[in-house]
Amino acid sequence: MYKYLHIYHSPKLSGEVKISGAKNAALPLIASTILAKNEALLSNVPNVADVNTLLKLLSNLGAEFEFKKNILKIDTSNINNTTAVYEIVKTMRASILVLGPLLARFHECKVSLPGGCAIGTRPVDLHLKALKEMGASIAIEGGYIHAKGKLKGADIIFDKVTVTGTENIIMAAALAKGTTRIINAAKEPEVVNLCEALKNSGVEIEGIGSDEIVIKGSDGELIDFKATSIIPDRIEAGTYLAAGAITNSEITLTNVESNHLESVLLKFKSMGFEIKTQNNQITILPAKEIKPVNILTAEYPGFPTDMQAQFMAIATQANGVSTIEERLFENRFMHVQELKRLGANIKTNGKTANVYGPTPLTGADVMATDLRASSALVLAGLIAKGETKVHRIYHLFRGYENLIEKFKNLGAKMKLGLEPLP
Ligand code: EPZ
Repeated sequence: MYKYLHIYHSPKLSGEVKISGAKNAALPLIASTILAKNEALLSNVPNVADVNTLLKLLSNLGAEFEFKKNILKIDTSNINNTTAVYEIVKTMRASILVLGPLLARFHECKVSLPGGCAIGTRPVDLHLKALKEMGASIAIEGGYIHAKGKLKGADIIFDKVTVTGTENIIMAAALAKGTTRIINAAKEPEVVNLCEALKNSGVEIEGIGSDEIVIKGSDGELIDFKATSIIPDRIEAGTYLAAGAITNSEITLTNVESNHLESVLLKFKSMGFEIKTQNNQITILPAKEIKPVNILTAEYPGFPTDMQAQFMAIATQANGVSTIEERLFENRFMHVQELKRLGANIKTNGKTANVYGPTPLTGADVMATDLRASSALVLAGLIAKGETKVHRIYHLFRGYENLIEKFKNLGAKMKLGLEPLP
């Protein structure tokens, strides 16, 4: 039996939605507990599939954990296996985040190559090149990365900004012998959350939040992991604001960090929506006229690629032509064909999509292909006439906690459907 999501025309939303902890902050922080000598406590951890997959991987290695009501207690002191197997890694490429900490602590490990995914080949060459520069010997055999060696500090220059690559090297450098300098580091808030947690736990780190991070390694001394709270999920927040925008409704987000999504808020304003921020709340108000938008995705603090699909859905309702250029991934337009099945008028040319609006959308069966594309289909389903069925809905549950409940609380009409096996 697999599940799909029925979405019925929900032209107006209202009310409040509480934003969960960030999946992409929780994953590296959970991996970093491999560096700890004590039981680590993480709070505001989202209960989503990707987090549970990583916890399954760590328990496979011998870690023990208790995960209840978004509080995670995890003890990695009894890890007795350093092989991250294909069966688990193939379901979530972010499993690569265990490579750096496992190698730094055990000086040897095997991690299945993550393989590509719907949005692109997603190589890890930059992760491996950096670890080699820190003294690791890396061999690829049978689809596995075999890494060996006692890591030492090094000057690492990333030819491309890589979020998990930066996170992997920060964690590896924390236990290495000597100082590591990362140049052209990723500056995402999730990287900052990881750095601050390690710094609070005694790791000497400078340049947090900048593109040059300096880490003084402990030469193998495990860290005394201090309790850490996961930052709010800026992409989940952007997705619910997009739900307000596409239905031209007033909704309020709570438990959100507005300065983590400045570029996204500016784009909403440029489309004519009013945005109000105060303390940890954001309210979006209807636009008198939804204006077209021009988007170039970029590394933080630029416009996030993880919000590109959602804005494409909104752009189908704008008065005019919007242009969206995807600069980070080679194939992140999988949602275009699906949006066109609902009636959208979109033309792609390589990495650029032109969206012609406003186009009335009509419900249909559509296929989710990756986490953020599937959220764009949900948004479009809200304003499509009639019923939309989003298939392969497991993609959504990888990164959106309590999605159906949160949307229903905003007045959306949706329910989970079960379908007999084909
Ligand atoms: C992180 O992926 C996020 N995932 C992604 O979110 C996000 O889309 C991406 O960063 C960009 O912001 C997590 O944090 C778990 P990258 P990551 O390494 O680290 C190329 C979601 O929806 N590259 O920054 O894998 C790569 O192909 C996910 O939650 C190399 O060429 O992305 C891409 O074109 C989807 N070699 C670019 O760099 C490498 O060794 C950016 O990738 C590594 C990356």
